[in-house]
Amino acid sequence: MTITLRYNASAASKLLDHRQFKRIESSILAARKKVLEEVELATSSSSIATSKQPLDAGFIDLPRQLLDEDANDSSHSLMAHIEGAAADLHQNVDQLVLLGIGGSYMGARALMEALCHPFHNELNRDERNGVPRLYFGGNNIDNDSINNLLHLLKRRCQDKSDVRQRWGIVVISKSGETLESAVAFRLFRRAFEEYYGFESVESRNLVVFITGDSGNLREFAAAAQHPVVLPIPDAVGGRFSVLTAVGLFPAAVLGIDVRKLLYGAADMTDCFRTASFAENPVLQFTAVCHLAERKQNCTIRVLSTWGQRLEGLGLWYDQLLSESLGKNEVGATPITVVNTRDLHSRGQQHQEGVRDKLITNLIVERPSTEPIVLPNRPDDCDQLNRLSGKTVPDLMSAAIAGTNKAYADVGRPTADIILPKLDEYCLGQLLQMLMLATVVEGQLIGVNPYGQPGVEAYKANTMHILTRRKEG
Ligand code: PA5
Repeated sequence: MTITLRYNASAASKLLDHRQFKRIESSILAARKKVLEEVELATSSSSIATSKQPLDAGFIDLPRQLLDEDANDSSHSLMAHIEGAAADLHQNVDQLVLLGIGGSYMGARALMEALCHPFHNELNRDERNGVPRLYFGGNNIDNDSINNLLHLLKRRCQDKSDVRQRWGIVVISKSGETLESAVAFRLFRRAFEEYYGFESVESRNLVVFITGDSGNLREFAAAAQHPVVLPIPDAVGGRFSVLTAVGLFPAAVLGIDVRKLLYGAADMTDCFRTASFAENPVLQFTAVCHLAERKQNCTIRVLSTWGQRLEGLGLWYDQLLSESLGKNEVGATPITVVNTRDLHSRGQQHQEGVRDKLITNLIVERPSTEPIVLPNRPDDCDQLNRLSGKTVPDLMSAAIAGTNKAYADVGRPTADIILPKLDEYCLGQLLQMLMLATVVEGQLIGVNPYGQPGVEAYKANTMHILTRRKEG
């Protein structure tokens, strides 16, 4: 177990009462115990009390289970299926449309943004090493975005014998019944059949289904004998499913090393289970967030990401925290910012606005590409020669330190999550850390982090309005 991610809350801790921090230790350890008991319960054959349902704790041990299953039988494991299906798509399509919403989409987007070339879809097939372009659809009921993507595919794909002009679909929905993704699937399926032919080999083989054990999508895939149907385990909820086929399959298609993601996550779970309070990033992070909220009224949690590639990750976390803990009129409000960009928009408010924010910086220490050096210029009309010789990462480090000092000077709490680099292993640790911290905090504040009863009302109203109009 190598935990390379570091959590440093020394700046925030200076502003917290030390005795409170000491006092919370026993509650946090008790919350961890309860989370681990729920893992046992979820995997045992005992019946689960209604008050504990839904109980989607399956995500906690899943990374290690998938790795073990693969080590025991590498030709029939889920990993083998995922990688085999991804390799087939590499051979057969050059663009893939991923249809899904919420937990069935945000993880894949976060992984793509963090780990792929930032302009992946603009590269040609050779530059992408045959990895398909990936487009996200089905995450809105937006006429123009659906139309524009359909038109793009129609324009680009005219000769289906040329792999560069072939496209595929991956449709992801645990329930198999979500309006946004179902509508999009119907529309993209029609376009697909128009291009490849109704009941063509392609319309069966180039559509990948990722879905739960039951529901319309599962039944449709079975009835139409689609060969690739990947599971979403019953015991894993949507926003906790990034390390199931939901995130792993699109990641594998994108050429991301999915095993390393799982190793990172499995190591984080091991650390969560065994490390002391002081050495445990999950428990430390939970303690600081919880104390800042309860003792300092920091009800807003700003995830301050440093670098453009982390925005998707921040949006994934926004969903995780708000859908999991925003219940019973409690739960902190997450906000993601991307710096240094948003220092020029939200920075003012963070420095001088209402004192209701804990700022957690998400910092990547080393860039993935060669550091760019600022050159000297004889004209110096921009007066940047005083900085020449410095690298862009030097400028970023100065901005991080300068911003944190500005917040510290006026008593604004900050903490840092530090990743040595943005790779699969570190990202696996981070995803698992944030999911674990969310369920520990749920125990602490008496909220079931699984399920999202609050979104049912909008769904029911929308469907009622739609069907009433049709009948009328
Ligand atoms: O976290 C969740 O469970 C939700 O955000 C779901 O992922 C989202 O509603 C999509 O549901 P489904 O995968 O059933 O289409």
